[in-house]
Amino acid sequence: MKAWVLISLFALAFAKHEQYIGWKSYYVAPSSQDELKAFGSVVQQLDVDILSNPYLDREGVVLVEPHKQNSFTSALESYGISYRIHADDIKAKLDYDDQLIEEQRVASMARNGAKEMPYDNYQEWEVIEAYMEDIARRFPNVATLVTAANSFEGRPIRYMKISTTNFQDTKKPVIVIDAGIHAREWITPPTVTWAIRKLTEDVTEPDLLERFDWILLPVANPDGYKFSFTSSRFWRKTRSTDQHALSYLCPGVDGNRNYDFFWNTVGTSSNPCTDTFGGGRAFSEIETRVVRDILHEHLPRISLYLTMHSYGSMILYAWGHDGSLSNNAFGLHTVGVAMAEKIDELSLSHFPRYVVGNSVLVLGYGASGASEDYAHHIGVPLSYTYELPGLSGGFQGFHLPPRYIEQVCRETWEGIVAGARKSGDMF
Ligand code: ARG
Ligand code: ZN
Repeated sequence: MKAWVLISLFALAFAKHEQYIGWKSYYVAPSSQDELKAFGSVVQQLDVDILSNPYLDREGVVLVEPHKQNSFTSALESYGISYRIHADDIKAKLDYDDQLIEEQRVASMARNGAKEMPYDNYQEWEVIEAYMEDIARRFPNVATLVTAANSFEGRPIRYMKISTTNFQDTKKPVIVIDAGIHAREWITPPTVTWAIRKLTEDVTEPDLLERFDWILLPVANPDGYKFSFTSSRFWRKTRSTDQHALSYLCPGVDGNRNYDFFWNTVGTSSNPCTDTFGGGRAFSEIETRVVRDILHEHLPRISLYLTMHSYGSMILYAWGHDGSLSNNAFGLHTVGVAMAEKIDELSLSHFPRYVVGNSVLVLGYGASGASEDYAHHIGVPLSYTYELPGLSGGFQGFHLPPRYIEQVCRETWEGIVAGARKSGDMF
């Protein structure tokens, strides 16, 4: 190799994560409902970035850029909310994560010979694509791969239709699950590829195939997902640059603020340079229009919609903009609890118990334009945001360590199974 190649490789390696110099992350632990609400207001006011949602006496993790750190800590102190530093050297933690993932990748290749879908490491976009193609090829009678549209940067946005009758039996309820609308939430796509596996390669609940049709979209935001692997670990939004005069400097829209339900009203921003920018208009993003169109296409038949996020060990339901309850609040809560109980059974000592409730009540902040509210608003009776478990207490990096990925997939599947069956019984 030529010397200049080595030198530029070296420079590139060192440039990674450099953008986070001076940033800090904090553990926060509100210990009462008032403190949780106060925490929510601080987040709103300073527009800091929640990596993991806290709950009562349960630590969350917040990422804060340098010029906001003083205001952040003094605001917490003024409300008496306890906090401690999580990382004062973000770059070191990210380098540690990279190293862990690389070691895991090598080990995983050695074990699986790059053939099987990895659940002992995070799943890159290309790997998920290849997996879905393979499933469609191997299970042509039940699995169809659909390219819904191309993302802003031109990547196919693809979902898997799973049905024993090619969606022709219109009496069957449909279950829709998406993940990866928030790019950095890497634990979410594997839970959906796991669902694909459990409905094709490794069927242990045949009633779920007999009773339901499935639409499974593991990576709703491929541009952002890719970008979070290659360039910026904490990237959350899409990568569009056509939303605002400033969008070339600050690309991207928060997909979970872009839906047309109380769009651009609470917990969202009209400044494209923030992480909760709701877009120039509702459904400005192809990545959210794809999900919207799926919901409308199958609407009268959808019994359950789940959208996967991280972290927090939470199952959240409407209404997420103002904390009021829907007409179906009892059903939402009952099925939410049923899902959580099944997950907790399998989770045991791994993670904290799931919290189930109205999104504003549980999170401490409202946010409008979210997909779970939109789906419920247009008539999906059971619609939930999952905040998957991870990133609290004792982890050394920002990832849930790769060895926990399979655990999360397995237990989340238990929640999906319980939710599906209940939704079918009530439909
Ligand atoms: N962490 C998720 C987000 O910020 C929570 C969404 C909850 N749902 C809601 N309708 N606000 O997008
Ligand atoms: Zn999210």
